[in-house]
Amino acid sequence: MTDTPCLRLEKIGVRFTLGEGGLLHRGKETFTALEDVSLDIARGECLGLIGESGSGKSTLGRAVVHLVTPTAGRIVFGGTDLTALDARGLRPYRPRMQMVFQDPGESLNPRFTVEDIVTEPLRLLHIGTKRTQRALAARMLERVGLPAAALAHRPTQYSGGQRQRIAIARALVTEPELLVLDEPTSGLDVSMQARILNLLRDLQTSLGLTYLFITHDVGAVSYLARRVAVLYRGRVVEIAPTRELIRAPRHPYTVALLDALPRFIRGATIPSPAAPPPPVGDRASVPTEGRGCAYAPRCPQRQPPCLETDVALEPAGIDGRLLACHHPFGTVS
Ligand SMILES: Nc1ncnc2c1ncn2[C@@H]1O[C@H](COP(=O)(O)OP(=O)(O)OP(=O)(O)O)[C@@H](O)[C@H]1O
Ligand SMILES: [Mg+2]
Repeated sequence: MTDTPCLRLEKIGVRFTLGEGGLLHRGKETFTALEDVSLDIARGECLGLIGESGSGKSTLGRAVVHLVTPTAGRIVFGGTDLTALDARGLRPYRPRMQMVFQDPGESLNPRFTVEDIVTEPLRLLHIGTKRTQRALAARMLERVGLPAAALAHRPTQYSGGQRQRIAIARALVTEPELLVLDEPTSGLDVSMQARILNLLRDLQTSLGLTYLFITHDVGAVSYLARRVAVLYRGRVVEIAPTRELIRAPRHPYTVALLDALPRFIRGATIPSPAAPPPPVGDRASVPTEGRGCAYAPRCPQRQPPCLETDVALEPAGIDGRLLACHHPFGTVS
């Protein structure tokens, strides 16, 4: 493929400054949520993003749509380096990428009508008049399977699945090319999850959308994403075609994560009996350079160099897989 990717992340780092205090505080404690994250998403592709709670998935999604400012690296959208632009330069790009947020309950303010909610991105970006905003919102509601009459209602009148449709309509209203979907089906029952996933797949095809699809659900990722990236404590440790990653995970963390995530068996997602991986716990920052592999302290495959020698994401095998591991499982297939 010679096509420019829809999105290219180059060595993205996000470091949060902790504690209160508005102005720059020298020596303030920082927390590294993402380190050296590089990945591409082709036009029309859905890239899955998995990783345990706290691994930085939402932070990465928020960085992509400019709700979090990276402290390092570049975000290249359709060939343009967005990190080099100021707020004014960025303006034309903002409508072209939107996010469906992790918790629709929180993102859909019950005091607002569905019209207020769905048209909000247009108002924030000063796109159109009240009349055209309303017409676009009505069209998007119908696109996601809700009647235009819903505009006058409040989100609290709707079920979880319908509220998620409202959240999707809201993300679509600026007619974006790229959608970050942050766990769009969590909190829904299994049959509703399947309907929302169907809707997302249909929208992707009919509107030619590109997705970054954050999930905890192996079934959902198999259904929607042809490739998956695995995030461990702010770093991508493995990227591979979904089928290959599930059939033959190679990074020891991917193996542990897949064992712990819900499994997709014969069309139904059932919780895994395995315990989830231990939490990161001490909120320790991502180890930075010269500290070896971040997973080494937990890794059953660990060898002496793993604790000392840094590891980079590199091509591993003919399936387009990338791996950051000194001693991965399996042989090159
Ligand atoms: N604004 C912030 N300030 C400080 N730390 C933050 C901030 N936002 C996120 N973090 C920290 O960054 C880490 C990654 O958080 P993030 O929400 O991206 O994880 P996640 O992978 O989406 O987790 P989950 O699966 O629970 O949604 C966490 O330790 C979190 O506490
Ligand atoms: Mg999250």
